[in-house]
Formats: sequence, C-alpha cells, structure tokens
Amino acid sequence: MNFTLKIWRQKNTSATGKLVSYQLTNITADMSFLEMLDVLNGELVRRGEEMVMFDHDCREGICGSCSLFVNGRPHGPQTGAAVCQLHMRSFSDGDTIVVEPWRARAFPVLKDLSTDRSAFDRIVQAGGYISVSTGSAPDANEIPVPRHVQETTMDAAACIACGACVAACKNASAMLFVGAQVSRFAMLPQGQPERSLRAQRMVAQMDAEGFGACSFTGACAVECPASVSLENITRLNREYLGARLTSSDTD
Ligand code: FES
Repeated sequence: MNFTLKIWRQKNTSATGKLVSYQLTNITADMSFLEMLDVLNGELVRRGEEMVMFDHDCREGICGSCSLFVNGRPHGPQTGAAVCQLHMRSFSDGDTIVVEPWRARAFPVLKDLSTDRSAFDRIVQAGGYISVSTGSAPDANEIPVPRHVQETTMDAAACIACGACVAACKNASAMLFVGAQVSRFAMLPQGQPERSLRAQRMVAQMDAEGFGACSFTGACAVECPASVSLENITRLNREYLGARLTSSDTD
C-alpha cells in the first residue's frame, strides 16, 4: 500500500509548526499505524533528516502513551482502540493521512507529535491517594463490594489517561478523565476517606492546569479508546457539588 502522509512538524514548544508531506510506499496492510511511522522514520534517517517524534510505549492499548490525531480524530478512525492498535488495513491504498498532535493549552507540544501531558499526573497527585493508615493488606473478600459496584468501578478504572477526551473536546475539557479518577475511588468502600476533599482538589487542579469547561457534547466518550462512559462526568458533578455543599474540607 502507498500513502501520502501530512505530518505536523514542530521543533519545540515555542516554534511555529507546519504540516509536511511524505510519500510512503510498500506498507503492508497488517502493519500497525506506529510501525508505519517507524518505517517513515527509518527512511528519514537514511536520508539524513530528523525523525518524527511521537509518543508510544506498550503498543497494545494499555499505557496511554500514544496520542495521535489522525484525519481529524483522536487515535484515528477505529472506535474503542488506541492508535497503537490501529492497522493500515483501516485505510485505502493511495490515501492521504493527516497526522497531528493533541491540541489543548494544557497539553503543549514538545516536538512534532509529542505533547506534555503531565497535567494529568498533577491532577492525580492532587487527589489520588488516601493518607490514613490502612494497615497490612486485608484478605480478599473481607470487604464485600456488590457486583454492580465492582463493574462500574472497573469501567472507570479502564481509563488509560491518554488524553483523547481532551483532544476530542471542543473546549479541551478534562472532565471525563477527572470523572473516571474520582469515580473509581468514590464508589468503593476503600475510597471513602477523604472522598469529598479528593473531588474538590482534583477539580481545582484541573482548573489550574487550564482545561476548558464541559458543555456535555459527549465527543470525549465517543473517542475514548477505553470506552469510559459519560456517567463518570455526571458522577463527578454530583461528587463535587455534594462536597462543596456538605464539607468543610476545603483548601
Ligand atoms: S502505546 Fe501504550 S496505549 Fe498506545
């Protein structure tokens, strides 16, 4: 298969970027999208040009490192999968493919297709731990958790923190991500200590990082590779409002 790639090239955060065209030939249909970019980088090295920088690690949809905006969609045309799980058979021979980085003020471009998503780490750090002493690990099943709570919690915990929700949102909102983080603690008995403080701190950090407000258009959930549901935003709103109304645990 042959492709024309239009790839965003940007030297650093403050430089002006632009789309640069590359022709790629003899790509096999079973190659992953990232392997196709590896082939391009091999060609660039052979020509003495600078490789295209892009984020990746596990290449199996687990770590959330990969973050490419492909033909106007986060992670490309495949639903419920990260771009590392996308294969070239999803495209037609001769296609032009436009590849851009996530675009959000809170995710500045580091170089080419690589973005700084440490804002997510700081949100998790702001509220994602329990400071009480929990003692040694309890026996399994010592704290009964109803099946439907387990299932809903696992759905929230499926978030891989890639940032596709932010990239998909016209407001660059991080509400789906924060909703998933707050939900997976709020629903379990183990997450009850500091529950209200956690919601308030994570929302405050989200705002401080410069993410936009949620207008509930739902693009985030549609493009989420882990299929994290919009219910998590509703739950976050409920947790935050309840915390503000009933708690004195404010900073
Ligand atoms: S590289 Fe880990 S999820 Fe894509």
